[in-house]
Amino acid sequence: MEEPNKTQAATAAKALRASGTAWFLTAMLGQWLFVLYIAGFYGGAAAQGDFARWNDVLVGGYVAGGAIGNVALAAHLLLAAVITIGGPLQLLPWIRTRFLPLHRWNGRLYILTAIVISLTGIYMVWTRGTAGGAAMRVGISINGVLILIAAVSAWRLARARRIAAHRRWALRSFILVSGVWFFRVGMMCWILLNQGPVGIGGKGFDGPFVRFWAFGCYLVPLALLELYLRAQDSGSAPGRYAMATVLALLTLGTAIGIFGAAMGMWLPRLT
Ligand code: HEM
Repeated sequence: MEEPNKTQAATAAKALRASGTAWFLTAMLGQWLFVLYIAGFYGGAAAQGDFARWNDVLVGGYVAGGAIGNVALAAHLLLAAVITIGGPLQLLPWIRTRFLPLHRWNGRLYILTAIVISLTGIYMVWTRGTAGGAAMRVGISINGVLILIAAVSAWRLARARRIAAHRRWALRSFILVSGVWFFRVGMMCWILLNQGPVGIGGKGFDGPFVRFWAFGCYLVPLALLELYLRAQDSGSAPGRYAMATVLALLTLGTAIGIFGAAMGMWLPRLT
């Protein structure tokens, strides 16, 4: 007969897996809504040759005659759609077990995309600028550098067949690559919960919440991922239940943020 402690830990592991899956599926849906917006708004304008329309949203944006920056911007936007479709697919166990070659090729594409999107992003931040002040520029640049480190580490560990370590770094890459998405979803959740744009800073977009979230949008999810991995490894039932509860609340917060971002930022720009 199994020891009661072991049975409890196994039940807690199931609860943790269920809440992790609920969060992931919610996030995947929200990421694909983001892709719908990127393809519909930026792709739609590009298909009509109306690149200037991009600047309805962008701050640095498209500059007539500024070839290198425009190519970097166009590559960045195209790859934003590619990586946001491909990222969640990498994490679906169903694909890894049944279609390993797809996981390998999509993985290579993902790493390459992560590298180019980060480099073009850093270039754009420091040549054309972005919304907000110094915190936004420094915050997103550090995000870009961390994406490079995590994606290359995940790739090297996969090549060395160190699969447990590869999984950890792949999850870290996914969280870091999702930083810009977390920024939008987290901000909209905050605004909806506060019933107004508290701490956003008006047109300057440099209020206390924005300054905090410029770094928090990837550091907070990264810290939560580490707690999740520890809860999985620890074998402690209370630790697993605590993390499962946190994830259930995060799923709710993520769903609220996705709703806010879709209704307030993404879907209106598709009409
Ligand atoms: C890795 C995943 C990333 C995705 C999916 C992504 C996606 C996007 C999208 C969709 C836009 C258009 C803005 C909007 O419509 O909301 C954008 C713009 C931009 N991104 Fe990224 N991005 C990523 C990473 C980065 C990184 C790492 C940096 C910088 C280090 C960066 C810097 C920028 C800049 C400067 C703009 C133009 C902002 C403006 O002109 O207002 N991005 N990105």
